Amino acid sequence: EQIYIGVDLGGTTVKVGICDKDGKLVQTYEGPTESEGGYELVTDNINTYVKKIVESSTYSWDNVAGIGAGIAGFVDKNGFVKKAANLGWENVHVKNVLEEKIGKPVIVNNDANVAALGEAWSGAGAGAGVSDVVCYTLGTGVGGGIIIENKIHQGFNGMAGEIGHMSVVPDLEAIQCGCGQKGCLETVSSATGIIRMAKDAVERGDRTSLSLLETITAKDVFDAARVNDEVAIRIVKRAAYYLGRSMSALAVVLNPQRFIVGGGVSKAGDILFDQVRENFKTFTPGALQEGVDIVPAKLGNDAGIVGAAGLNLFKI
Ligand code: BGC
Ligand code: NA
Ligand code: ZN
Repeated sequence: EQIYIGVDLGGTTVKVGICDKDGKLVQTYEGPTESEGGYELVTDNINTYVKKIVESSTYSWDNVAGIGAGIAGFVDKNGFVKKAANLGWENVHVKNVLEEKIGKPVIVNNDANVAALGEAWSGAGAGAGVSDVVCYTLGTGVGGGIIIENKIHQGFNGMAGEIGHMSVVPDLEAIQCGCGQKGCLETVSSATGIIRMAKDAVERGDRTSLSLLETITAKDVFDAARVNDEVAIRIVKRAAYYLGRSMSALAVVLNPQRFIVGGGVSKAGDILFDQVRENFKTFTPGALQEGVDIVPAKLGNDAGIVGAAGLNLFKI
């Protein structure tokens, strides 16, 4: 039997999974990223976790048909990380380092591209006739993955689908993004962006139930919006507005059938999705809305490991 290993490298946790050839997750393992130790320690950790999951499974290395990894950052075609702001990495040849440590070939791609592949393969994009989807992951950053005709759209150098860095916020309101530019979608629609807007409002003295006495999370903001806190409502509106507009821009360019939204922030549910859909409707020509839907991701936290495992099954 052939199995596929998927690695999802996040800022705090490394998730590793074993999938069968149909994308069914048969085993998982999780360990700390320890990103403060730099890429050397992080890749050591990945190596340890990969070895652990195989050893603790009923499979042997002979069953392993491939290893794939998704990394949160600008990853080029060669598996070279040009910049991963949320990990603090710049110019790291992750593919080479991992292959050297693990002693096996590793396919490396962007975390959100990989999550998109997972959702398309066995999540919210799976099913007859759904071949073109755009996937968003809303977490520390805003990730994007574009699947065209069942394949990750890579772009000339492998870095297509960096939707979080679409510059959408007007100059006067734009703030600095970790990528080096200003006004990126990520600055308003990620968990980090939502938290920052909430803190700013509290510091300005706006009337709100949110307070700096406790650590504000994105979930706090959505919860407050649900009970009509005006500041929270304004922040959620802003996050949803730019998400909807970005989808509208992608709809007219790519004409995907489905937008899949995952990541921690997507757990907010209807309060977010309703407004994203409304904005999409407002800004997209009717003909390009027909047959298009915006749905939550299905695989939850597993999209990354499932998709990373899938990197070896689909010729990308
Ligand atoms: C990074 C992307 C990544 C996303 C989600 C962004 O800040 O630029 O490469 O996919 O965060 O992790
Ligand atoms: Na991407
Ligand atoms: Zn940016």
